[in-house]
Amino acid sequence: MVPPIWIEHTTSPLPRKDLFVHSKLIIEKSDGLFGNIDIDGSKNAALPILVSSILCCGTLSLKNVPDLLDVHNIVNLLQELNIKVNKNEKSFQLDATNISSFTSSYELASKLRASVLVLGPLLARFGKAKVPLPGGCSLGMRPVDLHIKSLSQMGAKIFMEHGYIVGEVPSERLIGTDITFEIVSVGATQNALMAATLAKGHTKIINAAKEPEIVDLCHCLRKAGAKIVGDGTSVIEIEGVEKLHSAEHTIIPDRIEAASYAIATLATNGSIILNNITPNVFGTFKDYLEKAGAKLTFFDEKNSVEIRSTKNINSIDVKTAPYPDFPTDIQAPWMVLMCLAVGKSIIEETIFENRFTHVPELTKMGANIKVLSNHEALVHGISKFTSAQVKATDLRAGFALIIAALVADGISEISHTYHIDRGYVDVVGKLTKLGVNITKKGAI
Ligand code: EPZ
Repeated sequence: MVPPIWIEHTTSPLPRKDLFVHSKLIIEKSDGLFGNIDIDGSKNAALPILVSSILCCGTLSLKNVPDLLDVHNIVNLLQELNIKVNKNEKSFQLDATNISSFTSSYELASKLRASVLVLGPLLARFGKAKVPLPGGCSLGMRPVDLHIKSLSQMGAKIFMEHGYIVGEVPSERLIGTDITFEIVSVGATQNALMAATLAKGHTKIINAAKEPEIVDLCHCLRKAGAKIVGDGTSVIEIEGVEKLHSAEHTIIPDRIEAASYAIATLATNGSIILNNITPNVFGTFKDYLEKAGAKLTFFDEKNSVEIRSTKNINSIDVKTAPYPDFPTDIQAPWMVLMCLAVGKSIIEETIFENRFTHVPELTKMGANIKVLSNHEALVHGISKFTSAQVKATDLRAGFALIIAALVADGISEISHTYHIDRGYVDVVGKLTKLGVNITKKGAI
């Protein structure tokens, strides 16, 4: 396997984000999205699955891994632990046979929340770990207390030192136990279940996250020999084994990317086909799309779906909540759609305490949104959007600004596009394919 040029970048001390920090997207008003694009692998499934390679005595071979900034950074971080990585297009091979370091560098790990996921696997396989405390981000404090509490319940001794989470396992091997999460946490569920695969005895995780990305992680771990049942429900049970072996796995499609382009299609009165999806890619979000005015036609034999606008956009109140309810990662794009609907709609954000950072930027473009509290916003439709220079504040807020730019009179400019590159593969190429006049200006 010939590693492509890309691999050289991952050995550089500077994560690729530094190449993107000053770039801008220039977007002209669209007459509607038309055409077809491929949906890439799920970022939020790929990140924990890449990290799960730490657990395997052998090679984890992955397909459909999305080419994203966050993926590059997590692979950089795994290579720091001396995991051997080979990449060819969207296929990765990770060999953790000779891990020789149990410490993640501050430079990388502090930029990527998912870096905390190495804690459980390192403690489970090697009994020691040192991981920078992931900083907060624009969404809020992003604590990791539930990660630490669950691993401590399994026998790890964890303390903070110089901005690092330091863990060790005095008894050599983690011990399975019952873990009840007071609130649903995707990351804490992933950390605990990965650790439990190699713990001694039985672990029961109660109030577990039920996201499809959790199920995909468990599918992959079972292929490597893990004994897990109940994934996709709120109770996951794991019987620890001595070791995990090599495995092959294909990452599920990115349901958030698919939903983001579906919303953009409704907003611009278009009609597109999304390829490389699965019949249940949207989960219950399909109902929201149809209530808002979308006509969805699935072609299961082709793993594709047609999203067609039916002209009117209906205003729908939404409340974000853990899967299978309305995804928090779709809240910002949905808010733009509600600006284009006739009437008022309420958007409740119950997962994060600061996930309305896109509102001031949308307001610059003419949106009529009133933030009633950290957790509630009132949208008055129909807003007349006009072009402006705006700033992406996180990856989903960045895509919301793209949708606003597609319906705004004139040519808009979105800065800080590295946020968008964290979660959306080739947004310029995909939107160009759908008929949009979009260019990227700046560092790369
Ligand atoms: C995952 O983040 C996703 N990221 C997020 O997607 C997503 O928004 C989030 O789950 C919720 O669905 C990845 O999978 C890489 P949580 P995660 O732990 O695991 C609180 C995107 O746009 N909490 O489920 O970090 C936390 O503050 C990103 O792709 C604690 O209090 O989210 C939040 O309020 C953004 N203590 C709530 O739980 C903890 O120890 C849910 O967070 C952990 C979390």
